[in-house]
Amino acid sequence: MSATSRIGRGDVLRLLSAPDVGRFLAAVEARLEAEAGWSPGVVGGAARQTLAAGGKRLRPLLVHLSAPRAARGSDDVLRAAAAVELVHMASLVHDDVLDRADTRRGRPTVWATDGDHVAGMTGDYLYARAFAALAESGDAVAVAELAATSHALAQGEALQMMQAGHVETSTEQYLARCALKTGRLFACACRLGGRLGGLPDADVAALGEYGERLGLAFQVADDLLDCGGTPETTGKPLGTDLLSGTVTLPLLLAARSDQTVAAALAVPPPAWDVLPLLHRVAETGALDEAREAAHELVRGAERALERVHGDIDHDRLRAIARATVDRDS
Ligand code: IPE
Ligand code: IPE
Ligand code: MG
Ligand code: MG
Repeated sequence: MSATSRIGRGDVLRLLSAPDVGRFLAAVEARLEAEAGWSPGVVGGAARQTLAAGGKRLRPLLVHLSAPRAARGSDDVLRAAAAVELVHMASLVHDDVLDRADTRRGRPTVWATDGDHVAGMTGDYLYARAFAALAESGDAVAVAELAATSHALAQGEALQMMQAGHVETSTEQYLARCALKTGRLFACACRLGGRLGGLPDADVAALGEYGERLGLAFQVADDLLDCGGTPETTGKPLGTDLLSGTVTLPLLLAARSDQTVAAALAVPPPAWDVLPLLHRVAETGALDEAREAAHELVRGAERALERVHGDIDHDRLRAIARATVDRDS
């Protein structure tokens, strides 16, 4: 494990337990409840079920910390924060259909409880509420940016399906997919915080670079948790990527030196084989190698952050970046 970029969990919690963060996240939650509760019936019910399951609310936090201090409490920053979380929630509801995932955030997914159609419509509904929330800012460029980001998410998910089972996928191809499905929304969160807070274009661009690299590191960390995390803390089952042939960085690296792992990725194994296979993955050293790649992405995020001159919360954005890789949920 890299000795760089490590700060203690306690440090991060202390930085994030500041009153402004608590107030902001409570306001975001109220706004999310209003959006999810907007529609009666089965789709509104499924949206409320998704919201009630919780989540880290990391993307709204990035919007908040990327806005200059003077703009932090503004309605537009709050609208953007709710909008990016709604897009995130929508993408997860759809992702669980594609992944046939029965558990998320420790609870049954909409797909598991209500099936393909309700999950599809619930995701669509959450996307619609996201754009409606951001449109209240009157900033058409911001709405267009969120729309382009949502398109990128869908492209990333499609690319993931096309790459499934292809063990010859390169690290660059994997990262290109993660940039679409994860990096772009992190970048969008940071860019919208800066833009709606009135920062100049150069700062908004640097915040976008910070967000994209952070998102890539975050996805590599998620892929590591899928190989070696604890379902009680992640709220998701172990080994879903391996079982679905999803070619993540740790699995690709392991497949290069272990033919059994390569064969399992190409032709998904029965569920009972997953734990011994994950043990083989760990034995190859691929988890450490992927973790070091994630730390390098974090260092890139930190360098981009240094180029933001506006009065944003550099310290807490740096703390988030440093805590992204070695997390347990
Ligand atoms: C999960 O994101 C999807 C990825 C991009 C890996 P989070 O880990 O932020 O999910 P929640 O919102 O905390 O459940
Ligand atoms: C992230 O990828 C999903 C989206 C960006 C929509 P994963 O498929 O790895 O996310 P989890 O592990 O299901 O949360
Ligand atoms: Mg998934
Ligand atoms: Mg995952």
